[in-house]
Amino acid sequence: MTFTESPRTPHLKIAIVGGGYVGLVTAAGLASHGHKVTVMEVEEGRLKELEAGRLPIREPGLEALWSKAVEGGLRVAHPKEGGYRAAELMIVCVGTPTREDGTQDLAHIKGAAADIGEGLRDSHGYAVVAIKSTVLPGTTEGVVRPILERASGRRAGPDFGLAAVPEFLAQGSAVQDFLHPNRIVIGGLDKASAEVLLRAFAKLPGPRMVTDLGTAEMIKYASNAFLASRISLTNEIANLCKAQGLDTLQVLEAVGMDDRIGPKFLRPGVGFGGSCFAKDVQALTARATSIGVIPRMLRATIEVNEDQPLRLVGLLDQKLGGVKGRRIALLGLAFKPGTDDIRESRGLVIASLLRRAGAHVVAFDPEAVPSARAASPDLEYASDARKCLAGAEACVIATEWPEFSRLRNEFGAMKRPLVVDGRRGLDPVGLGIEYVGLCW
Ligand code: UGA
Repeated sequence: MTFTESPRTPHLKIAIVGGGYVGLVTAAGLASHGHKVTVMEVEEGRLKELEAGRLPIREPGLEALWSKAVEGGLRVAHPKEGGYRAAELMIVCVGTPTREDGTQDLAHIKGAAADIGEGLRDSHGYAVVAIKSTVLPGTTEGVVRPILERASGRRAGPDFGLAAVPEFLAQGSAVQDFLHPNRIVIGGLDKASAEVLLRAFAKLPGPRMVTDLGTAEMIKYASNAFLASRISLTNEIANLCKAQGLDTLQVLEAVGMDDRIGPKFLRPGVGFGGSCFAKDVQALTARATSIGVIPRMLRATIEVNEDQPLRLVGLLDQKLGGVKGRRIALLGLAFKPGTDDIRESRGLVIASLLRRAGAHVVAFDPEAVPSARAASPDLEYASDARKCLAGAEACVIATEWPEFSRLRNEFGAMKRPLVVDGRRGLDPVGLGIEYVGLCW
């Protein structure tokens, strides 16, 4: 394991495999550094959108970076068009969803590896295949490598390079996270593979860690497991503070002042949502169990996270003397503000718990109503916060959108102005509401 300085080197021909959120940000970022980038997208609908210059995701700063990249020559193409033949570096950024049994579905990775392998068969120069998708340790070596070798008829090492380069982008700050990483992790099959990645990332600031494939893959899981467990520990401490009538926020603020702990990721609430934390912690838990390591912390991380929405519903039930037949306004469906992504949304979990208990839930979110409607078509949606609150006997805040913190007399339209806040989304002072914090 070494820390290395990047060499100053010329630009590369790079194929980004997968036009999803990681792929597009990575493509635009690398293109802005002068590399010749092509985005390979298999899904026809998405490919057409991209060809027409429309980005399928919203990410601050991405439109501007993307337009500049397109002006500078960034292309989008279907993998079957033969683009892999010319690439010197292929960065695989396809999804790795979780199956029902908690294991990873590697279908997209395998499909991409087979296409790239075919390209390698026809190419003459040396190229490196780098996996950016989140995959469990051993996947690049044990799954991707054999597919590439079979499809190409060539050998990893002497004929082509192999690497694992995990991503650490958070939605809403992905462009910034890409351009100003706090570390770049490069797992290489060998020195030659790692060197091509060092060239690709030469203009990015921050330390580089060059390591082996499996270690790089594990760094991603370890990072997300740390962040997720920190949120669950924060929530457990917060629940404990609230149960003792103590000032949760002061406790956490003081804890964060210890520079060994730091102030970030200490926000208590209804728990983590999103496409990464729960999926990655579950995949790591399944891996641990399969190799005979007891994943106590990982399991507890998920348990605490699943408990927080139950606590919120319990609190509401207690305040209202039962939720059955009550109209509840649910503010917030996106897994965090600034996105319309509802994967693992705590708001939708709360909606389904409340509806199961017989409540009449009306939901609103500034951005995520269309995606929530597609996932939960029979939930009732309001077209704005005022309509959502009108006539409600209680309101739940499940996402801390700035729009919600600006609500004032809208609460006056409620039948009972009871607000149970799951995210510290509101400063209740002067609002004339009955405010209950989930764990503060
Ligand atoms: C997360 C990580 O932050 C990224 O570093 C990582 O690259 C990414 O997953 C990934 O694996 O792809 P993301 O899921 O986009 O990024 O969003 P976060 O900002 O980390 O928030 C995740 C969830 O945790 C949200 O629901 C948020 O509300 C919750 N959270 C976060 C808390 O409840 N408390 C906190 O203190 C912080």
